[in-house]
Order: sequence, then structure tokens, then C-alpha cells
Amino acid sequence: MPAFENLDTKIEELARDFERDGYAVLENFLTSEEIEAIRNESLRLVREESPKERQQIFGNDYNMKSKYFVDSGDRVSYFFEEKAFDLKTKELVLPVEQSIAKIAHALHHFNPVFKQLSTSQKVQKVFKAIGYKDPRIMQSMIIFKPPFVGGEYFPHQDASYLYTEPLHVAGIWLALDDATRENGCLEFIPKSHKWEVKRRFVRTSGSKDKLLEWVGPTENYDESKFVRAEVKAGGLVVLDGRVVHRSAPNLSNQSRNIYTFHVFDNERATYHKDNWLQPETTDTFTPIYAN
Ligand code: FE2
Repeated sequence: MPAFENLDTKIEELARDFERDGYAVLENFLTSEEIEAIRNESLRLVREESPKERQQIFGNDYNMKSKYFVDSGDRVSYFFEEKAFDLKTKELVLPVEQSIAKIAHALHHFNPVFKQLSTSQKVQKVFKAIGYKDPRIMQSMIIFKPPFVGGEYFPHQDASYLYTEPLHVAGIWLALDDATRENGCLEFIPKSHKWEVKRRFVRTSGSKDKLLEWVGPTENYDESKFVRAEVKAGGLVVLDGRVVHRSAPNLSNQSRNIYTFHVFDNERATYHKDNWLQPETTDTFTPIYAN
């Protein structure tokens, strides 16, 4: 696949759609060589680096009690699908590459492949087009949605997890496989980026059973308002931290793997001290424009 020649024009269109709807899609953002390199590095991490003794299930109930999760803000940590585990023996029932849910949250800092991708010239152009003065990467994740066991992501606003004052938060989402209705593509409520963020995921003041908690009212969203964003492998989605989105479980036989990272504008906003994610041992908030 050729790198596209009219990238600047496409990014201008992307920025206009983003402003209007709170999210926007740009197909063919990555070349096939770039997709291959990222897929290979993702698989290498799963096969060679995933610590066997710390196979931690990913999911809200598990994350809130887990020091491994709480400490993952400035590390590279591995989380697995609940359905891939035998909960009695605590052994995986599937091969590791079909069981993994997520590698997170500081790949952009520690892994050269993901660092280069996240701070590339193309990514810089996207943030300049949407008006970011000093974008800093707060977190990055490879999200695997393996065939049959890949879990659902319930409707949420990303800024619930990564709050800033005032709110200048955006995410980049890169498809490593075709993301379809069948394997659980993203779904958005267009224009919901105009809504407030009332619910937040924060650190507690040190209860043993619960390290993190949700504060604020639960929201009920109108099912009929969600619009699917199907994207081919190599496509980019940019999303405002306030836009409501979700994705369905993967019940198909095709994987839906993606790389995503979240950014705040360090010039216009301050990262909140009670956000769940805090870099405590290393400053992993990487500037995108310093590259
Ligand atoms: Fe999200």
C-alpha cells in the first residue's frame, strides 16, 4: 500500500470531522510495512515478555483491587481475557496469543517501536491540525480482541479515566486488523464530545480491598444513538476525551487488534492528581513534538 500523497488534505478533513462529531476516521494512515512491524512487535511482546507468574485478568472488578493494575501507569504490563482463564486452576485454557486482552500503559515510553510510532511526523501533523500546542502521551495500550473470547467495552468517555483541568484530552486509535461489526469495531455517539464528564475513575485513599473507585453518577445512554466506525487495518481514529464510545465483544473468528494512546495538551491543561493513572517511578508523559 503506498503511503498517501495527499496526507495534509486528509488530515485537514479529519480535523474538521473531529471538531464536528468528537471523532473522525482516516483510512490508510499506516503503510502495510508499518502495520506488519507493529503486529510483529506486539506478538513478540506477548510470546517473549509476558510474565507467566503474573497473568492478571483485565476487567473493572479485577482492576480496582489490583496493585499490578494500579502500578501499570509507568510500566509495560500484561492483562488477560477472563474467558481465556480457568478460574479454579488460574491457568490459561488457550494459547497465550489468543488469551491476551491488553498490554499497557507505558509502551510509548519503554518500547522503541511504539515510541517511534506514537511520536511520528504523521502523528504530529494530526495533533497540530486539531490545535494541540504541547501534546503529551499519558498512556498507551495494545488492545487485543481475540476471536471468540475478546471482551466488550462498555460505553464510556476516556476523560473519565484521564481527567485534566480544563479538559484537553484526545486519543489516537490505530487498527492493526480490519475492525468490523462482527469483531467489535468502535461505536460512537456523534457530538457527545459536547457533554460533560460527570463520572471519574480515581485512586482511593488507601483501602485494602479497593485501590480505585468510580465517583459520580452512572450514565444511561440511548442505544439507538450509537454509530459504528468500521475501519480497515492501517486506519486511524482520533477521538475527543469526552466522546461516548463502546465496542462489542468479538464473537467472530477474526482478531481485532489495535494500538491506542491518549494525550493531553500540557500547555492548556493540568493532569489531575487523583486520576487512577499516576507515573510514580518514571516520568512517562512523553512529548509528541520533541521528536
Ligand atoms: Fe475508550
